[in-house]
Amino acid sequence: MEISVKDSGGGIADEIMGKIFDPYFTTKHKSLGTGIGLNMSYQIIKEHLRGDIKVQNSEFEFEGNIYKGAEFILSIPTE
Ligand SMILES: Nc1ncnc2c1ncn2[C@@H]1O[C@H](COP(=O)(O)OP(=O)(O)O)[C@@H](O)[C@H]1O
Ligand SMILES: [Mg+2]
Repeated sequence: MEISVKDSGGGIADEIMGKIFDPYFTTKHKSLGTGIGLNMSYQIIKEHLRGDIKVQNSEFEFEGNIYKGAEFILSIPTE
């Protein structure tokens, strides 16, 4: 099973692409970000479900407008 989630938040800078799944990596102020969300997602999907999670920036059209953001692609084995 493959699930793709796109947002319109502008995307992720190339310089931090390789770090976003690291524990405690955050670009938010310390009162706002923990850097745990994507690391937990990574651990659950990779280690517990034996699946895969990948990220890329994507541009897409929705109802006539063009948006740019991050796309997370989850591959989860079904058996
Ligand atoms: N959808 C997204 N669009 C752009 N940047 C993102 C997105 N999700 C995560 N990031 C980047 O990855 C970092 C780590 O994300 P996350 O593990 O959820 O921790 P937190 O949200 O607490 O910072 C964020 O601080 C941000 O820089
Ligand atoms: Mg987060």
